[in-house]
Amino acid sequence: MTTYTAINLIARPQGGPIGPALFDVVQKKLPIVGQGEFLVKQSHMSLDPAMFGWMSPDPDSYIPPVELGTVMRSSGIGEVVESNHPDFYVGDRVMGMMGWQQYILSNGAGLNKVTVPLTDETILSIFALPGLTATQGLFNVGKPKKGETLVVSGAAGSVGSIVGQLAKAEGLRVIGIVGTADKADWIVNELGFDGAINYKSENLAEQLAQLTPEGIDIYFENTGGSIQHHVVNRMNAHGRIVVCGMIADYPKAQPDLAPSWIPIIKKRLTIQGFTMPDHFGDIPQLLEKLTPYVMQGKIKHRSHTLEGLESAITGLNFFFTGQNKGKLIVKL
Ligand SMILES: NC(=O)c1ccc[n+]([C@@H]2O[C@H](COP(=O)([O-])OP(=O)(O)OC[C@H]3O[C@@H](n4cnc5c(N)ncnc54)[C@H](OP(=O)(O)O)[C@@H]3O)[C@@H](O)[C@H]2O)c1
Repeated sequence: MTTYTAINLIARPQGGPIGPALFDVVQKKLPIVGQGEFLVKQSHMSLDPAMFGWMSPDPDSYIPPVELGTVMRSSGIGEVVESNHPDFYVGDRVMGMMGWQQYILSNGAGLNKVTVPLTDETILSIFALPGLTATQGLFNVGKPKKGETLVVSGAAGSVGSIVGQLAKAEGLRVIGIVGTADKADWIVNELGFDGAINYKSENLAEQLAQLTPEGIDIYFENTGGSIQHHVVNRMNAHGRIVVCGMIADYPKAQPDLAPSWIPIIKKRLTIQGFTMPDHFGDIPQLLEKLTPYVMQGKIKHRSHTLEGLESAITGLNFFFTGQNKGKLIVKL
């Protein structure tokens, strides 16, 4: 093969579903591999809600937007197929920021070797962004204590499902907020959560009160949405709210109104946002914390794999419709 396919971002989302109008599918010539370089054939790439932020024009976010006319940003995993680099050999498996493209020419910056004998899907679902985010947010921001009650939104998603399982393993009572009965069933009956609430159902305050009889100590927020108001009303004194994501607001021109700040004073709450790029230097420590839970079989996952590079274009909408059942991955 002398050419390969890449997908460039050519327009910013304006609200509404993501589609082909935002992207240009291009054929590129395979590059010549120079001294100190190697060529990677990407096998699986991760789709993440963060991509909506990366596509938006906001220059004040935690990471610069993807420039129009350049390859869409994403992380992925692949194999070295040609190398003139002293430390990377043909056959090495590597992961890192690869973008929406079949091949990547690299000098090694930002790519790490993968040596654990796990499938690409498992690595992207647990040891990449989802597991690192869950570990950082739960332990370093949420500071869980045995016996406390944690509520997590987006609970059947890739981050939320790991947060809940880690908290269960630490001896907390864990309630998950999800958008379908099937997801509620999965987190309770497969993952061992203590309860689930469908945020699209009625009587949310009553359901929450029933499932959190001793109040809520930690709220791990992945979505936003109106249930946030009910959760804040049930927070215990000195509770912690870990603000990881607000997917309900990403497609809206105007975000939802936030809950009143009065309970923040009365309950002396701590509300803290975090983003993973601040913690990429902490990855070894985060993996050291996460890996034993995985090895003890305490972290189950499911990945939702789409076929073919171009499936990423409309696949991104699954995050808003809730169609993704687990970690959304594109198999190239
Ligand atoms: N801070 C960081 O560094 C960081 C890193 C990674 C991810 N995140 C954030 O963490 C959150 C979860 O990411 P993920 O990769 O694990 O995605 P995910 O949970 O696997 O997928 C997104 C899920 O959000 C739910 N959702 C969509 N619209 C919603 C709405 N209006 N109200 C409530 N729920 C809604 C859907 O599930 P239902 O069917 O249950 O509605 C959907 O499946 C995202 O907000 C993401 O931006 C942050």
